Amino acid sequence: MAKVVVINLILCISLCMAFVSCTNSRRIIPTNSSPLGHDDATPSGSNFTYVCDPSRFDQLGLDVSSFGYCDKSLPYNLRAKDLVDRMTLAEKVRQLGNLAYGVPRLGLPKYEWWSEALHGVSNVGPGTFFDDLIPGATSFPPVILTAASFNESLWKKIGQAVSTEARAMYNLGRGGLTYWSPNINVVRDPRWGRTTETPGEDPFVVGKYASNYVRGLQDVEGHENHEDLNSRPLKVSSCCKHYAAYDVDNWMGVERYYFDARVTEQDMVETFLRPFEMCVKEGDVSSVMCSYNRVNGIPTCADPKLLNQTIRGEWDLHGYIVSDCDSIEVMVDKHKFLGDTNEDAVARTLKAGLDLDCGVYYTNFTSKAVVQGKVRERDIDKSLNYLYLVLMRLGFFDGSPQYKSLGKDDVCSHQNIELAREAAREGIVLLKNDNQTLPLNSAKIKTLAVVGPHANATKAMIGNYAGIPCRIVSPIDAFSKHGKVNYRMGCGDVACKNESLIFPAMEAAKHSDATIIFAGLDLSIEAESLDRDNLTLPGFQTQFIDQVTRAAKGPVILVIMSAGCIDISFAKSNTKIKSILWAGYPGEQGGHAIADVVYGNYNPGGRLPITWYEANYVDMLPMTSLQLRPVDSLGYPGRTYKFFDGSTVYPFGYGLSYTQFNYTLATSKRSVHVKLNKYHHCRALNYTSGAYNPPCPAMLVEDLKCDQHFEVGIEVQNVGKRDGSEVVILYSKPPEGIAATYIKQVIGFKRVFVAAGGSEKVTFSFNACQSLKVVDYAANSLLPSGGHTIVISDGGLSFPVHIKFER
Ligand SMILES: *[C@@H]1O[C@H](CO)[C@@H](O)[C@H](O)[C@H]1NC(C)=O
Ligand SMILES: *[C@@H]1O[C@H](CO)[C@@H](O)[C@H](O)[C@H]1NC(C)=O
Ligand SMILES: *[C@@H]1O[C@H](CO)[C@@H](O)[C@H](O)[C@H]1NC(C)=O
Ligand SMILES: *[C@@H]1O[C@H](CO)[C@@H](O)[C@H](O)[C@H]1NC(C)=O
Ligand SMILES: *[C@@H]1O[C@H](CO)[C@@H](O)[C@H](O)[C@H]1NC(C)=O
Ligand SMILES: *[C@@H]1O[C@H](CO)[C@@H](O)[C@H](O)[C@H]1NC(C)=O
Ligand SMILES: *[C@@H]1O[C@H](CO)[C@@H](O)[C@H](O)[C@H]1NC(C)=O
Ligand SMILES: *[C@@H]1O[C@H](CO)[C@@H](O)[C@H](O)[C@H]1NC(C)=O
Ligand SMILES: *[C@@H]1O[C@H](CO)[C@@H](O)[C@H](O)[C@H]1NC(C)=O
Ligand SMILES: *[C@@H]1O[C@H](CO)[C@@H](O)[C@H](O)[C@H]1NC(C)=O
Repeated sequence: MAKVVVINLILCISLCMAFVSCTNSRRIIPTNSSPLGHDDATPSGSNFTYVCDPSRFDQLGLDVSSFGYCDKSLPYNLRAKDLVDRMTLAEKVRQLGNLAYGVPRLGLPKYEWWSEALHGVSNVGPGTFFDDLIPGATSFPPVILTAASFNESLWKKIGQAVSTEARAMYNLGRGGLTYWSPNINVVRDPRWGRTTETPGEDPFVVGKYASNYVRGLQDVEGHENHEDLNSRPLKVSSCCKHYAAYDVDNWMGVERYYFDARVTEQDMVETFLRPFEMCVKEGDVSSVMCSYNRVNGIPTCADPKLLNQTIRGEWDLHGYIVSDCDSIEVMVDKHKFLGDTNEDAVARTLKAGLDLDCGVYYTNFTSKAVVQGKVRERDIDKSLNYLYLVLMRLGFFDGSPQYKSLGKDDVCSHQNIELAREAAREGIVLLKNDNQTLPLNSAKIKTLAVVGPHANATKAMIGNYAGIPCRIVSPIDAFSKHGKVNYRMGCGDVACKNESLIFPAMEAAKHSDATIIFAGLDLSIEAESLDRDNLTLPGFQTQFIDQVTRAAKGPVILVIMSAGCIDISFAKSNTKIKSILWAGYPGEQGGHAIADVVYGNYNPGGRLPITWYEANYVDMLPMTSLQLRPVDSLGYPGRTYKFFDGSTVYPFGYGLSYTQFNYTLATSKRSVHVKLNKYHHCRALNYTSGAYNPPCPAMLVEDLKCDQHFEVGIEVQNVGKRDGSEVVILYSKPPEGIAATYIKQVIGFKRVFVAAGGSEKVTFSFNACQSLKVVDYAANSLLPSGGHTIVISDGGLSFPVHIKFER
């Protein structure tokens, strides 16, 4: 989403019609009018309850009992059909944009579909806003840091907290019910500007984040399962975006609005689609958003294979498909796809399976497209049915008694603010800690130099797609509570254009018992529509860090705020920089969270969710080459830990603790026998030259029952002196000799708390097909026979699992 200027203009136009007043880019809503804008369907000034409220119909001069869509004894699909069948074509098309205008004669109010809640309720979408009544919402850390916790229950719990705040705001007319979050595109390239919004580079971890966050947002307690998933109640509706192969924003002038992602089907299945498949199948998400870019020549929102066939057909989405904002316009004006007119374009996307247009193209051009015979009215009906089913599941028509009591006190509650602090602490990664310099002993450190462009970070900590935070605790605020602080900026901002402010920071370091340097990036360097060109610290930041370190009297601790990786080899090898922390962008409680870690009130356990490449990595391949595997003919290295075997600053999954953990393999099943019948045929695999070729290399996964599991039990012992949390990550490695496959891949992970001196048993159960499969060059999922290897965390412990085919 973005094109902020254009979108705001468009919205401003539509909102000026819907609301009393609006200014340049922000609308002003009279206190008693709700953002749903049902003023023309309900007497102005009254508070909206739910569509089928009989007294609402009375006030409209309508009889609710004459409308089948309000008959609670009927199933949702019949009610939705009743509603749609009552509309004229002209009325129908006005419901297909993010601002659905409603149909007053049917008692149907307006609804604004666009709200956002990437890491807290946001006011980026027009469906949600803040004012005197609700001045802010809890701003959790931007996703890349929360992902680093590798804690599934945390991800879900944040989703639950966010949806509680969203529901409370909806009750007060300040929030919507449909939130276009999370962003689950895989970080394929370290330059991507939107890394901050995502859970990192591993498709499986991203998919797990997606399904947990989505369930946190959507699930109504006690209704996680339902006999008819199209009627399963929803707390709020979530949306996984941007589908698919979207991860170039603006790199060297290549913009997402023009970009044609050339993707092999192998990478599509193995990497780009996998998180979306998990989001739909495991998360049961109620919406998917298609992206701006093309994939192999076709705009994603116009591709029937990607939308109708895959999301609806193969994955069985229970919900609606929405476009990224103004995607259809982009398709016509920027991609100039097939020379389509506006009518051709809306017909094409409707037929491909796009139900809702964030924009005005469906609303403006679909009637004519139908009259011209380019698309049938029944294609519109189908989409409207999907849309109304979601609104019914949300209680928009019948109310949601279980959330009725939520109000002002549920937004920015003490509990949610504490959760934001906890999330940041759980995500922070300890990258270096020579001589156990951290945690600092506040009794010994009397004065602390706090320097650097992020020492007083405020807005930088909440990143993009944020709302207005309840309150922000900057590093300086938090560290001041622990003792005397000498604060100097060192750099005017992260761009650090000159050296003028360095000297005062050196002086502060020289006269303090310890020095903490807060450096890194912010949205001026990495953001939506802004990819990076290099992996170094901007401007004079490196000089600044070196000079302050040289001048420092005591130990130096470097805290990096960034989403993407930074080549900080210089700091890693500088023996005076004793400790390094990566704090992502830590959200509204960021200062507290960092201080909690620095002073040892929390023992860090986060792990990097992306590879930290060396700076020259980006000189070796253009961002626009989508292949994950190395491209030998062009000298391009592989991408992500799965395919890149060169040296790194820090690898994926890296992170230290203040304590030490020892692993012992407790239980494990070492071989899996797969029974074959005579209709099962062996599949060939490509092997490297000289490698052993087994007689039956592999079986097609879809041919197998895939009911075999293998268990892994690991005893995690805390052999240090502090309590702590350990992230256990399990990888699988395919049998040796298979060509062009991944080096290793995450198959499971668990974060476990272990008291000092204690131990905990962590158990995993893996489906052999799911965890050991490879995707071949033709995008077949295959289970290779022979010796796979399960590697635990940093590789200190591993064991084989043999796949044996038996006739
Ligand atoms: C609508 O709800 C708001 C918030 O609870 C309240 O302040 C206002 O008085 C209500 N308006 C009416 C007309 O009931
Ligand atoms: C969508 O897919 C279904 C099968 O999954 C098929 O019956 C239908 O014709 C498809 N629609 C379009 C417009 O391609
Ligand atoms: C869509 O229709 C509205 C209302 O008629 C008009 O103001 C707007 O310019 C149209 N937008 C486009 C892109 O056609
Ligand atoms: C740790 O401290 C000892 C003695 O104080 C010193 O010899 C050693 O070099 C230090 N190690 C590091 C990695 O700083
Ligand atoms: C930190 O930043 C905030 C907001 O930008 C500002 O109000 C405050 O004065 C700054 N603190 C210091 C110590 O400069
Ligand atoms: C150096 O940077 C500071 C802080 O950004 C700025 O105020 C100052 O004007 C710059 N000086 C020069 C000579 O560019
Ligand atoms: C690296 O990129 C940033 C902007 O992203 C730019 O300010 C800086 O000058 C670049 N550094 C180098 C060494 O090119
Ligand atoms: C091996 O890979 C090449 C493409 O690199 C492909 O053309 C060939 O068919 C593959 N063979 C097998 C058995 O997978
Ligand atoms: C941890 O494990 C290593 C080898 O696996 C062993 O040498 C060491 O003694 C263990 N440490 C403790 C405290 O158990
Ligand atoms: C995981 O997150 C939950 C929810 O915040 C928290 O209660 C739990 O302690 C975390 N687990 C670990 C091992 O840190």
